[in-house]
Amino acid sequence: MNFWNTIDRPIIALAPMEDVTDTVLRELLLGLADPGCLHVMMTEFVSTDGLVHKKARKRVIHRLQVTDEERTLLQEKNVRIVAQIWGNMPENYQQVVKEITEEMEFDGIDINMGCPVPKVVRRGCCSGLIGNPSLAKEIIRAAQEATHLPVSVKTRIGLKSVATEEWIGHVLETKPAALTLHGRTQKQMSHGLADWSEIAKAARLRDRMGLELPVIGNGDLRSIKEARDKCVEFNLDGAMIGRGIFENPWIFMEEQRERTKEEKLVLLWKHTELFDRVWGDTKNFHILRRYYSIYSKGFSGAAELRTRLMQTESINEVKNLLASYATSACILPTK
Ligand SMILES: Cc1cc2nc3c(=O)[nH]c(=O)nc-3n(C[C@H](O)[C@H](O)[C@H](O)COP(=O)(O)O)c2cc1C
Repeated sequence: MNFWNTIDRPIIALAPMEDVTDTVLRELLLGLADPGCLHVMMTEFVSTDGLVHKKARKRVIHRLQVTDEERTLLQEKNVRIVAQIWGNMPENYQQVVKEITEEMEFDGIDINMGCPVPKVVRRGCCSGLIGNPSLAKEIIRAAQEATHLPVSVKTRIGLKSVATEEWIGHVLETKPAALTLHGRTQKQMSHGLADWSEIAKAARLRDRMGLELPVIGNGDLRSIKEARDKCVEFNLDGAMIGRGIFENPWIFMEEQRERTKEEKLVLLWKHTELFDRVWGDTKNFHILRRYYSIYSKGFSGAAELRTRLMQTESINEVKNLLASYATSACILPTK
């Protein structure tokens, strides 16, 4: 049942990102991914407190949605999907983990002990748990007791200062199924560079403790090659890529080159259609603007297209705009 021990090395994972790695983006990335370039995907983080409260649940449950189309691609591409949760109450973890195990089809559950946002840290959640190792361990054990699925942890190398060995020592005592380590402290937020030598320390500690779980490094990766190189250089089992997808949605493919205008526009349209199919008007259409700037660059007329895309309010407006930019029939929207 613990896929972490059986999947190929180096493990390449898509980082969980709030308001980004929903079922739509995951389906889009899965459609492009080549074999061996993507093994694990995580959902956006979901609040355990939110999930157990009837009213708040309605606002967060969509984060655990996996469409049938995504599910088919996960199987075809042999990629695992992990639900990421956060909170600070062990009893809520138990309830949520049980529900995810019994009623949803995830391959694993990941506990977020890394989000650095001051609002959640002040409440003792996410990377706030680095400052409270006994509660952190209680939470991991509560989750483990409630499921047969592998429970992993994603965290940082310290709270206000680097404390990799001390903090990770606590986490490893609970024998998580996998550990993802982002090479920055909470205080660093996303400033400076991730320190991969600290991530390597966690892997060495795992070895000294005689444990078998994979240690996955995270921070600032911009290509699969870089991810694989880091695994070799720092002796890690895997690497996780987050913001790299904003620069290059084709990142999980072996062939890396500048994409043509046609390829960019085809993906832009596919993304828009997918968003419309899954979310319709239940999610703000403007979320797509973040991606429009990725697709509309690097060709003549791109800046003007980008400006006009930023003004669109509906899928029909995007369709009409794209039709006027299409240079070959194959990229014209089909519906
Ligand atoms: C927009 C955004 C949302 C994020 N949401 C989450 C989240 O829900 N759960 C989590 O563990 N980390 C979250 N992160 C952190 C990423 O998973 C990752 O650790 C971080 O971006 C560093 O990796 P990168 O340099 O490859 O982006 C988020 C990051 C970004 C940029």
